[in-house]
Amino acid sequence: MTESEYVLVTGGAGYIGSHTVVELVQAGRNVVVVDNLVNSSEEALNRIETITKVRVPFVKADLRDAAAMSKLFTDYKITSVLHFASLKAVGESTKIPLVYFDNNVTGTISLLNAMEAHGCHSIVFSSSATVYGDATRFENMIPIPENCPLGPTNAYGHTKSTIEEILRDYYAANEKTFRAAILRYFNPIGAHPSGLMGEDPLGVPNNLLPFLAQVATGRREKLQVFGNDYASRDGTPLRDYIHVVDLAKGHLAALAKIESVSEGICREWNLGSGHGTTVLEVIAKFSAAVGRDLPFEVVGRRAGDVLDLTAAPQRAADELHWKTQLSIDDACRDLWNWTTKYPYGYQKPE
Ligand code: UD1
Repeated sequence: MTESEYVLVTGGAGYIGSHTVVELVQAGRNVVVVDNLVNSSEEALNRIETITKVRVPFVKADLRDAAAMSKLFTDYKITSVLHFASLKAVGESTKIPLVYFDNNVTGTISLLNAMEAHGCHSIVFSSSATVYGDATRFENMIPIPENCPLGPTNAYGHTKSTIEEILRDYYAANEKTFRAAILRYFNPIGAHPSGLMGEDPLGVPNNLLPFLAQVATGRREKLQVFGNDYASRDGTPLRDYIHVVDLAKGHLAALAKIESVSEGICREWNLGSGHGTTVLEVIAKFSAAVGRDLPFEVVGRRAGDVLDLTAAPQRAADELHWKTQLSIDDACRDLWNWTTKYPYGYQKPE
């Protein structure tokens, strides 16, 4: 058992986890990472070391491996957990829902069991704005406040809303001790300003900016814009894009909050900017960062897409003293920097 206190980051080799590890280390925290590397690369740990000059201990394990989790909590004095580890592809989740529930939900239960057995009571959970589903089904729910009724529309979203329920029920049974921050992310984008870390999607990217980045490097011919017949200013859907470094800092703010309360807490916070941006506006901004117009064609709507997912960010501003500081232009610049330095991410060229 270590003397020092550690923050455990599950999924710390992944996109958002790795950026958050950098911020934690730079804030002087001791961090240990657990990751099963199914959708991430150990190389991210090397990049974290290059940026922070600190080698963060890494345990390759699956959260469902109870023995590995017990050893982890025995080897390190873990006082708080930031829980990122998750499968996250919406389309895939609709095809293999049991894999998603087992990985995301069973993994979280295993983590909570290990926390309980070792007297660790604080967790910051990576939820998603996807738990709201189509908030435009209600009047006056755009921008989306945290009290908007939930209604996820796919298996991935159900795993996130289920884990939220588990946390709320666990808190109800342990109100004096358990501290949980549920962070509902809007659309994380961008990369570390150093150009050393970023998103590293395997296969064909599902999300807008990772795909656009591969169009810019010539790995993909053109972007397909999924519909321009929505009721927005240019017909394309609105999303609340947030720089991954701002998002990472939101976790430190949430951790500070739950570490500061005198009793237990279980509360949801949106992490978004409060501003909606259309697909065509994003294309224009990333094209400006690249320095040329990127090719796209408008095709039909993508099943499951909705008109508008924009956060009401006031609760995080009031209670976490956190606001986005970086713009979409900053994110496009940083994404392009990362893409030009590492067009194949952490992988070797195909
Ligand atoms: C998606 C997921 C969401 C998940 C988030 C981050 C759905 C319905 N939602 O959000 O649950 O939390 O990713 O992983 O899948 N677009 C194109 N062409 C593309 C790709 C995207 O036009 O090739 C458009 C989409 O129609 C959307 C916008 O770009 O309007 C953003 O799409 P995307 O990056 O996939 O994120 P979301 O769909 O908002």
